[in-house]
Amino acid sequence: MTGGWQLVLFLHLLAMAFFVGGQLVVAAAVVPVEASQPEPERMRAIARRFGVGSAIALVVLLITGMAMASHLDLWDSATLQLKLGLVVLLIGLTIVHLNHPRAHVLQAAIFVISLVIVWLGVDLAV
Ligand code: HEM
Repeated sequence: MTGGWQLVLFLHLLAMAFFVGGQLVVAAAVVPVEASQPEPERMRAIARRFGVGSAIALVVLLITGMAMASHLDLWDSATLQLKLGLVVLLIGLTIVHLNHPRAHVLQAAIFVISLVIVWLGVDLAV
């Protein structure tokens, strides 16, 4: 892999780490602390910043992912198409989640779909 494409893959994985790791930290640390010591104002501020960070990560994932798909000639791959379908579903559920921030079933669905997308990404790379 040439240095330039290694950088593109590096950015794809860095954005993926933020996107998925952020959800884990929110579930494992932020939500339990907020439940035991509620501070709605601070929780809203954290959620806003997390939302902006995740949106930036998603844009990086889309740009670097599309670049790699073209470079590796993968647009015909059924795995990539399934992955893209799930990315669209993920974006849709995230928009619904903005209007229903406390719906746990939505948060769980977004997390599980994120993991499936990571699995399909690894499947593409091996
Ligand atoms: C939430 C969004 C996404 C996540 C979490 C994600 C995650 C991943 C992961 C974990 C890999 C494995 C890389 C490796 O093991 O080396 C990967 C590879 C890849 N992703 Fe994504 N991805 C996302 C979005 C996209 C999008 C939107 C596209 C295309 C339009 C895309 C195209 C690719 C391609 C082509 C590879 C294979 C790279 C290679 O073979 O070296 N990804 N992705």
